[in-house]
Amino acid sequence: MKWLVLLGLVALSECIVKIPLTKMKTMQEAIREKQLLEDFLDEQPHSLSQHSDPDKKFSSHQLKNFQNAVYFGTITIGTPPQEFQVNFDTGSSDLWVPSVDCQSPSCSKHKRFDPQKSTTFQPLNQKIELVYGSGSMKGVLGSDTIQIGNLVIVNQIFGLSQNQSSGVLEQVPYDGILGLAYPSLAIQGTTPVFDNLKNREVISEPVFAFYLSSRPENISMVMFGGVDHTYHKGKLQWIPVTQARFWQVAMSSMTMNGNVVGCSQGCQAVVDTGTSLLVGPTHLVTDILKLINPNPILNDEQMLSCDAINSLPTLLLTINGIVYPVPPDYYIQRFSERICFISFQGGTEILKNLGTSETWILGDVFLRLYFSVYDRGNNRIGLAPAA
Ligand SMILES: *[C@@H]1O[C@H](CO)[C@@H](O)[C@H](O)[C@H]1NC(C)=O
Ligand SMILES: *[C@@H]1O[C@H](CO)[C@@H](O)[C@H](O)[C@H]1NC(C)=O
Repeated sequence: MKWLVLLGLVALSECIVKIPLTKMKTMQEAIREKQLLEDFLDEQPHSLSQHSDPDKKFSSHQLKNFQNAVYFGTITIGTPPQEFQVNFDTGSSDLWVPSVDCQSPSCSKHKRFDPQKSTTFQPLNQKIELVYGSGSMKGVLGSDTIQIGNLVIVNQIFGLSQNQSSGVLEQVPYDGILGLAYPSLAIQGTTPVFDNLKNREVISEPVFAFYLSSRPENISMVMFGGVDHTYHKGKLQWIPVTQARFWQVAMSSMTMNGNVVGCSQGCQAVVDTGTSLLVGPTHLVTDILKLINPNPILNDEQMLSCDAINSLPTLLLTINGIVYPVPPDYYIQRFSERICFISFQGGTEILKNLGTSETWILGDVFLRLYFSVYDRGNNRIGLAPAA
């Protein structure tokens, strides 16, 4: 009996495919979902450069660039396989990589896919354009074999970028993006990678999970087909998805020191591995920054002296009746020994179609604290403190 149980466990854990993620500091805030970003692009008040002050030794632009981190991992496309680094993004649903045809600087700095070198590639002759907060790509659709760890998907439709914006997409350490949100966010007529894994039963359970480490000794991980429970402490708390587009849930309160700082009438929270910070409505973020940072430095409401960290309150988020604390050493990032950066950002008031007047995006700042499970079988998100 004991042996049977043991064998059962081994078989189960073998069904989970784990892809290690590299964490790297990057230029600006990482990638965001295209819908979000279309809106962001129109609006410049949050432009980072607006805050920079050429007279200062450190412009806040540089500070922010320095502080943001992205996580990415390896996939292959084609036969024989061509290897790419992709950002596994729960805030979008498309897969794309640069094409060998792309001459933009942001493509030549990255690995480019060569369809001629793949015997399984099929062109689709459909033009596409994707717009993210961090930039945009124009290209065409094609289909080929994709491999993620030992998971193989034949005839996966993906984008080949032929023209990419400079700026963030040029600076990021990954080549392309692999979206893990719902199919309703994907380019019309295409099936996202995870839907193919699920529908063709390449994986045993229709779930994936993220462990984003905050410590260098721990390796970040995305896992497909099951949950390795050694990556979290305590029980997973399940939260129903409210709209099957983003990984979106209902949040009921946000407090600091007993003061309501957001979500006073209830709100929606988007759990997004492709966003670095905690993003909310500008007027609320402005008030939070005033509350926690009455004496900004470098002319920037997000910059403060690191001495302040010990006296700052913990942010408490209540989701589905459970309180998720976010202590100051998580929502504050260190730029240098003395200069710190508050990881809140405004801008979500311009988001549409989220069925709410108040939206918060819980990015990597939150996900370093909480291991997250995305369950397409039951349309729910599981959260537990990261191990
Ligand atoms: C790439 O896109 C930019 C902006 O839309 C445009 O000005 C440029 O001509 C395009 N380049 C190519 C090679 O298509
Ligand atoms: C993270 O590292 C610590 C210290 O080495 C270790 O105790 C812990 O088990 C690691 N956690 C995971 C999930 O690997």
